[in-house]
Amino acid sequence: MKAISVDNLTRDYGTFRAVDHISFDVEPGEFFGFLGPNGAGKTTTIRMLTGLSEPTEGTALIMGYDIARDTYHAKEHFGVVPEVSNIYEDLSAWNNLMFAGELYGLSYTKRTARAREILDIFDLAEFRDKKVHGFSKGMRRKLTLGMALIHEPDILFLDEPTSGLDVESSLLLKEILSRMNREGTTIFLTTHTLEEANTLCNRIAIIVKGRIAAVDAPENLKKTIQTTQSVEVSLDSMTPRVTEDLAAIKTVTSSRHEGNKLRLFTPYPGDVATAVFAYAGEHHLKILSINTVGPSLEDAFLSIVQKQRNHRTGEMP
Ligand SMILES: Nc1ncnc2c1ncn2[C@@H]1O[C@H](COP(=O)(O)OP(=O)(O)OP(=O)(O)O)[C@@H](O)[C@H]1O
Ligand SMILES: [Mg+2]
Repeated sequence: MKAISVDNLTRDYGTFRAVDHISFDVEPGEFFGFLGPNGAGKTTTIRMLTGLSEPTEGTALIMGYDIARDTYHAKEHFGVVPEVSNIYEDLSAWNNLMFAGELYGLSYTKRTARAREILDIFDLAEFRDKKVHGFSKGMRRKLTLGMALIHEPDILFLDEPTSGLDVESSLLLKEILSRMNREGTTIFLTTHTLEEANTLCNRIAIIVKGRIAAVDAPENLKKTIQTTQSVEVSLDSMTPRVTEDLAAIKTVTSSRHEGNKLRLFTPYPGDVATAVFAYAGEHHLKILSINTVGPSLEDAFLSIVQKQRNHRTGEMP
């Protein structure tokens, strides 16, 4: 059985089609990334998958239960960290957790035991009786995540959980998600941080203007744009003359300055690296650093999004 099975899911707002017949499956245990530019339809999709918004057309099954028709059973299997926080400012951390536990129908014993565990995991125990309105952004995000986990769901939906978090909090959150996934939780994550998607997700869907433009492993998405390989080099002297010579190396198609480094784009990074070493030797220059850089997920993302946009524009009457 699939953890999530989406078939032709569509959502209209008046005459505007926010999500346009999307279909994909997520296997149990997957860490699935859902990426796309602002306004692409990610939040609208998550809202439909979690029963907060009704599809205009199509279906979504969560662990086999139709979210629109069998919402109660579907909801037992997932937790949500929404884009806009769902915590009660005037309640304490503890009471927010109790409230979430009640919503999921947990017994008093069960929800108090889970709440204690969660406060420990998220390092919030000392704030358990403090009202949320004094909490920092990171503390709120941790509490929201804790509330989504109170009933130990099989699947976790997260809509940009790390946005606005500092480096440390976002690392902590990613570690927690990684660990949960290793322990078996299926994760559906929306993010604008491609590095995050690259390291966490085993598969990524890219949505553009309400349609799925690609679904694949990050490694395969990168392979779709092989041509953007490059060699990044930094020499102890980077005069305009040197830069010009390096850019003129055979098979270098274009070059770009990146800080004190020069990035040489080429289909043959090995040959270019050899030529750089030879050039440096000949001109008594020291190589401070040299790296061959494959296409990044960011390059792949931009290329896929632009292609899909052009395709869609071309389609308009
Ligand atoms: N309640 C609504 N009424 C009308 N239009 C809406 C509504 N909710 C979303 N939309 C529109 O649907 C489109 C998709 O919005 P959505 O919030 O799903 O995008 P998103 O991919 O989550 O973007 P972001 O990255 O900015 O969060 C947008 O054009 C948005 O304006
Ligand atoms: Mg959104």
